[in-house]
Amino acid sequence: MKKHISKLRLGVLASGRGSNFQSIIDAIGNKSLKAEIVLLITDNPAAFAIERARKHGIEYLIIQPKKFISRDVFYEEVSRELQARGVDLVILAGFMRIIGKPLIDVFPNRTMNIHPALLPAFPGLHGQKQALEHGVKISGCTVHFVDEGMDTGPIIIQAAAPVYPGDTEEILSERILALEHKIYPEAIRLFSEGRIAVEGRTVKIKENVPSEQSVVNPRVREFI
Ligand code: GRF
Repeated sequence: MKKHISKLRLGVLASGRGSNFQSIIDAIGNKSLKAEIVLLITDNPAAFAIERARKHGIEYLIIQPKKFISRDVFYEEVSRELQARGVDLVILAGFMRIIGKPLIDVFPNRTMNIHPALLPAFPGLHGQKQALEHGVKISGCTVHFVDEGMDTGPIIIQAAAPVYPGDTEEILSERILALEHKIYPEAIRLFSEGRIAVEGRTVKIKENVPSEQSVVNPRVREFI
């Protein structure tokens, strides 16, 4: 009898444009990622991510913190909706808030975020602008697990982008965004294949096919 393997169930949290959300929709669509987006939650009724969810028939909820008596109660509600749909992994895709304990406690090492800088450098808002102002020659993006800090959780994968003289924040952001759209689906794929092990604050990527020769799968090496 064929063993039934259920797809990874994703819940996405987004506040804005949602291009990373789209990159995950596309990776699922072209079958490079075996997963299913079961819910989009946004805190912003004007988020373009909502249009993307509608277009692709993805259920969405608008949940605004101002409608709750406290931040914790807001996150309890978010967490409850995700759990009600059997979400395995929570994906922050441009969700412009620090995540609260009620969500992290339910999804420990099961909540990912993407940040537009090479963490631990330049956490918080405007990572690309911070990198330019600091004068770094290389920046990039980071997918990490979420803890209660600001972009402080264990790093899963990173991709580097050069910074050229004359770059503006907009130009650098575009260069980094193209990489974000590659590494976020890749990180989710690693998770879906059960290949991510968190040891303290370090993430180990397990080999796909055990082999004495290969140290890291070449597809992963591209991104680390
Ligand atoms: C991205 O730059 C991401 O790294 C950051 O917020 C931005 C979201 O963009 N966390 P989008 O909404 O996915 O297009």
